[in-house]
Amino acid sequence: MRGLVVGFGEKLVLDGLDLDVRRGEILGFVGGSGTGKSVLTRTILGLIPKRAGKIEVFGSDLDKVSRIEFDALERRIGVMFQGGALFSALTVKQNVQVPMREHLNLSRRLADDLAMLKIELVGLSPDAADKFPSELSGGMIKRAALARSLALDPELLFLDEPTSGLDPIGAAEFDDLITTLQKTLGLTVFMVTHDLDSLYSVCDRIAALADKRVIETGPIETMLASEHPWLRAYFHGKRARQLSASTMRKTAQGDRP
Ligand SMILES: Nc1ncnc2c1ncn2[C@@H]1O[C@H](COP(=O)(O)OP(=O)(O)OP(=O)(O)O)[C@@H](O)[C@H]1O
Ligand SMILES: [Mg+2]
Repeated sequence: MRGLVVGFGEKLVLDGLDLDVRRGEILGFVGGSGTGKSVLTRTILGLIPKRAGKIEVFGSDLDKVSRIEFDALERRIGVMFQGGALFSALTVKQNVQVPMREHLNLSRRLADDLAMLKIELVGLSPDAADKFPSELSGGMIKRAALARSLALDPELLFLDEPTSGLDPIGAAEFDDLITTLQKTLGLTVFMVTHDLDSLYSVCDRIAALADKRVIETGPIETMLASEHPWLRAYFHGKRARQLSASTMRKTAQGDRP
């Protein structure tokens, strides 16, 4: 993304945003609530129009591709929206099959087999397949939404706050799942998160959004060393210090023979 400008009415949400996501990395995207993290994700996906700037996906300028080419790019991208955004009238299996129905012409049997594969891949038990979202726990909804985002075997995966609302054990399991999937499937992951633990343990690099643009990118060390007031508050605030202590404990335990 280069010089991206996005707004609603008089208000600009993003103004001159530059960001690169590198193939094969897990990029953590942080920023205060309401700063435009979800808006950026939706803009990249073509769901919100941009006012200026350039977005390239897999080397193609999105302003220059035809509808057919855009559809082809879209097939290579998986998305897990904030809160899951599952269709409440559809079962888990049917939710996972929505992107398949949009983009592939599969027999019912094959679509069923594929959906079950994705459901197992994210660690849901097979009997979750025929449940409706209202019958699932928050953690199961996240896994179901992840299964749907993986429906088309994407190369690039957008995750919008995948661990928010999970208990620390569930969040750590989800982090492990994302790391494993990234490694085994060779994914590139763009992950919006508020979860400091995820940033420490999962992300290769972090990008921070403030003042309507990306103010810092780099590994966690870069974030910790940043002088920007928001980053200082975020990574060195009261809760951050508590987390650092628990992270150090975990590392120490992990090092034990
Ligand atoms: N469709 C829309 N119409 C008008 N304003 C919108 C729309 N979508 C988002 N906004 C505004 O854009 C700003 C950024 O919203 P966004 O959802 O991207 O925040 P966020 O960084 O994802 O926050 P959170 O961490 O709480 O999810 C907010 O002020 C929001 O009210
Ligand atoms: Mg959001």
